[in-house]
Amino acid sequence: MNRMNNLSIDHLTGIRDLTKEDIDLIFKTTDSFKQVINRPIKKVPSLRDITVANLFFENSTRTKLSFELAEKRLSADIVNFSSSGSSVKKGETLLDTVNNILSMKVDMVVMRHPNPGAAHYLSQRIKAKVINAGDGTHEHPTQALLDAYSIREELGSVEGKKVVIVGDILHSRVALSNIYCLQKLGAEVMVCGPTTLIPKHIHELGVLVSHNLREALEWCDVANMLRIQLERQDIRFFPSIREYTMMFGLTKEILDSLSKKIVVMHPGPINRGVEISSEVADSDQSIILNQVENGLAVRMAVIYLLAAKVER
Ligand code: CP
Repeated sequence: MNRMNNLSIDHLTGIRDLTKEDIDLIFKTTDSFKQVINRPIKKVPSLRDITVANLFFENSTRTKLSFELAEKRLSADIVNFSSSGSSVKKGETLLDTVNNILSMKVDMVVMRHPNPGAAHYLSQRIKAKVINAGDGTHEHPTQALLDAYSIREELGSVEGKKVVIVGDILHSRVALSNIYCLQKLGAEVMVCGPTTLIPKHIHELGVLVSHNLREALEWCDVANMLRIQLERQDIRFFPSIREYTMMFGLTKEILDSLSKKIVVMHPGPINRGVEISSEVADSDQSIILNQVENGLAVRMAVIYLLAAKVER
């Protein structure tokens, strides 16, 4: 049973572990932190006794900066680690690297790692609280929370809304976390893309599947456009980027031809002119930069709520 102001989890390794009550609590806390980050003094002293290590074993712009700023806004102490230029290159294991950092009395670990399950593995072996900032093709829980929060902000609620996730579903941790999160909040979810980039058994998660962009866009209230993850593809999943764009790229022409006005999202980084045109990304239907702003407040909320679980 979830206490009213307490998460049911000790670590945030995936959305799958969260209850709807957890998500509601995170959103309620996010509402307060959104007010804080829009004040002249954008900082609160809540986590002055907490030290957070940000461990990035894979590239990141938004998530890394957003977590770091969220920790600073909460007055936590921070240490940053990036695997490039570290002793990981000399063969040190993940657990040894993390245990060495924890010896410096760190309370919380935010980790991005290329291996699915890395955050869960760590959470089973260390005392510090773990937040998954993206583990390979598995989950990206704070991205899904900020996406759902942005839909709630834009459309009033997530419940009953129709959301299509378009693109490289096969390699996308954002897609999986979004599916779990949106369904827990009562949205209907469709995935859309070439057959080669849609996992064979995805319908078992209760999502609709389409291979026709126009059909999917006519169905939805919100379209979340994903990047093609070429860095995770060891074989060719479609003939060429040009052909992908012709079939699944969102242009202003398609958007304007729909029978209703839909909301356009993208987790970033954007490949302008591939999955989304510049005109669409910068249009008034796009909430891409709202997502980034909300990401800061959502991450403040997650860190704040998990810090309550740190033994002091
Ligand atoms: N959306 C997202 O995870 O972006 P980064 O890879 O830049 O962190």
